[in-house]
Amino acid sequence: MKHFKIIFALMAVLLFATNIFASQVVIKFSHVVAPDTPKGLAANFFKDYVEKTSKGQIKVEVFPNSTLYGDREEVEALKMNAVQIIAPSFSKFTGFVPQFQLFDLPFLFDDEKQLHKFLDGPMGQKMMQLVEPKGMVGLAYWDNGFKDISNNKREIKKPEDAAGLKFRIMSSKVLEAQFKALGANPQVLPFSEVYSALQQGVVDGAENPVSNFYTQKMHEVQKYYTVSGHGYLGYLVVTNKIFWNSLSPEHKKIVSDGIKLATQKEREWAAKLDDNYFAKVKAYGKVKIYTLTPEEKKIWKNKLMTIYPQFYDVIGKEYIDAALNTK
Ligand code: LMR
Repeated sequence: MKHFKIIFALMAVLLFATNIFASQVVIKFSHVVAPDTPKGLAANFFKDYVEKTSKGQIKVEVFPNSTLYGDREEVEALKMNAVQIIAPSFSKFTGFVPQFQLFDLPFLFDDEKQLHKFLDGPMGQKMMQLVEPKGMVGLAYWDNGFKDISNNKREIKKPEDAAGLKFRIMSSKVLEAQFKALGANPQVLPFSEVYSALQQGVVDGAENPVSNFYTQKMHEVQKYYTVSGHGYLGYLVVTNKIFWNSLSPEHKKIVSDGIKLATQKEREWAAKLDDNYFAKVKAYGKVKIYTLTPEEKKIWKNKLMTIYPQFYDVIGKEYIDAALNTK
C-alpha cells in the first residue's frame, strides 16, 4: 500500500512537470554583441523579467556574440521562426526594408534627444510597421550610440585622412556611399568577423560605437581612434509574426511589458556605458585617441551630407526631412 502511495505521488509530480513543459513557451533571443553591451544587458533583463513574471511558463534563451546565428543568418532564422526575437541594427534590414538605411545617414541626428523624439514620434512608429509585410512584428527601438572611426594606418582628423583606407561596413548602401565620399574603400563584413579582419589587415579600420569597439577587443588591433560621432547605431527589436499571434493574451502582455521595461533600461545603459567604455579604451593606453573639434565636425558634416540626395528615392525623402526637422 505504502509503495502504491509513493508511485501515485511520483506519477502526479511527473504529470505536473510534463504539463508545465508541454505548455511552456520558449523564446530564443539571438544577437551578435557581447552580453555587457546595452543590447546584451537589455536582452538578459528581458529574460529575467519574462521568466519571473510568467512563473516559468515562458522560457527565454539568450544567445549573445553570434553564438547561435551571425548577423547574416539571424534575420532569415527569424523569418523561419527558428528564433523568436532578434534585435539587429537597422543596416541589417537593408535587403528587404531599404527605408531603414535612413538611420545610417551620417549626421542625421545631432543628439539622442532629437533621435528619440523621432523614433517615438509618428514617423518612427510608422517605420516600425514596415517589417510587417515581411512576416515580422516590430517591438521596440533600442539604442547603441553614435559611431566613431578607428584604423591602423594614421590619425584621422580631416575627411581626406581616411582616403585610400579600407573600412569594414555593415551591409548598407548608405554606409558604402559614406566611405566612398571620403575616398575610402568600404568592405561589407559580418560583425563576428571584424576583429580578425582588423587583426589580419583584411581591412584597416571600422566604425563603431565605443561599447562595441571595446567589448569586441578592437582596441587590441587598432592604433587610432577618432571620436567623430558621425552616425548612429541603433536596433529594431523584432519578433516572428506567426509566433507573436500564437501567444495567449496573458503571455503577450508579459512579453510586451518585458520589452517596454527593457527598452527604458536599454536607453539608460546606452547613455551610461559609452563613457565607461571610452575610459577603458583610454586606460588601455595603446590607442591614440583624437576628438574632432566642433569646427572639424562641421567640415565632416558638410562633406558627408552630400550623399543624401542619392537616397531620396530608396529611403524616402519624407523620412529624411522628418528626421532632420525633428527638434
Ligand atoms: C555591426 O554589425 O557593427 C553592429 O550591427 C553590431 C551590433 O549589433 O551592434
